[in-house]
Amino acid sequence: MASVLLHGAMTDKTSKSKVLLTGRFPDVVLQDLQTAWDLEPYIEDRPMERAMLLDLIADKEGLIPMITEMVDAELLDRAPRLRMVACMGVGYNNIDVAAATARGVLVSNTPDVLTDATADLTFALILALLRRIVDLDRRMRRGEFRFFAPMQFLSTEVTGKTLGIVGFGRIGKAVAKRARGFDMRVLYHDVQKVGRSAEHGPDPEYADLERLLRESDVVSLHVPLTSETRHLIGRRELSLMKPTAYLVNVARGPVVDEQALLDALKGWRLAGAGLDVYEHEPAVTPGLTDLENVVLLPHVGSATIETRIKMASLAAENLRLGLTGGTPPNLLNPEAIFNRRK
Ligand code: DGY
Repeated sequence: MASVLLHGAMTDKTSKSKVLLTGRFPDVVLQDLQTAWDLEPYIEDRPMERAMLLDLIADKEGLIPMITEMVDAELLDRAPRLRMVACMGVGYNNIDVAAATARGVLVSNTPDVLTDATADLTFALILALLRRIVDLDRRMRRGEFRFFAPMQFLSTEVTGKTLGIVGFGRIGKAVAKRARGFDMRVLYHDVQKVGRSAEHGPDPEYADLERLLRESDVVSLHVPLTSETRHLIGRRELSLMKPTAYLVNVARGPVVDEQALLDALKGWRLAGAGLDVYEHEPAVTPGLTDLENVVLLPHVGSATIETRIKMASLAAENLRLGLTGGTPPNLLNPEAIFNRRK
């Protein structure tokens, strides 16, 4: 079990920094946080209400928010003592980093530790879709397997297909690595072209988005959510994909225009979709749940016990360094170091 060593935090309760944690953490990390800080834990398995968050943040020096909490200018203005926001998650579209920087508040995230879990889940979705795992499981339970027949329950081969990876960062590359095991041809699109390298295997080939969409049998999304990537995959992009192709999204819901996706699936202009994230999360666009060729998961890309302990531990370590005058290893706004709050 991982353990977080929170050296440097004050030990006297009255002089300990006040820290707000807005989600349930693994016990092993929670105990360490409780020892090190004057911790206000929130142990519900549901997002903290905004009003409660705004109220509780008023006297805090540290905040560990989940991806469901908006850390924006309004919140930051309610937190004059806040010095460190240690997010638990790699995506940080819920944080106004510029507003934090302007106020001398450090912000960190938890990259790397969730790369493998998220890439594994991506592949689970690819396999589930192309081999119809969920659909066929449902049919078994309905008693539809009455005899073996050679042309019954057919699905699509994964081996040898073309995988288009949109966003070739850590997770995109880890997905490419797994694709090699399936002898897939890998195309990638990213704002930065990545050269061929031993680390990432032979021949991930750069393609502009249009070519990637036209040529891929599976398109998998791994971009962060920004103003540039919101609805990156909309009606036009979906229309470029082959009608036999599948879309997988484990990144952020709003990267896909979900209504356009539903329309494409209903019109048989796309073979299927595997979604772990939703445009209006946790709501799912009505109609998607009726489709057999869609596999839906409740935002669990990094949700293995091993990875969640690592993420929580890393968030705690970032917090510790941020509150004790050090440099958090995953600092997102290094420029804030120069005017950090004391
Ligand atoms: C992340 O890390 O951004 C995931 O989406 C949530 O853990």
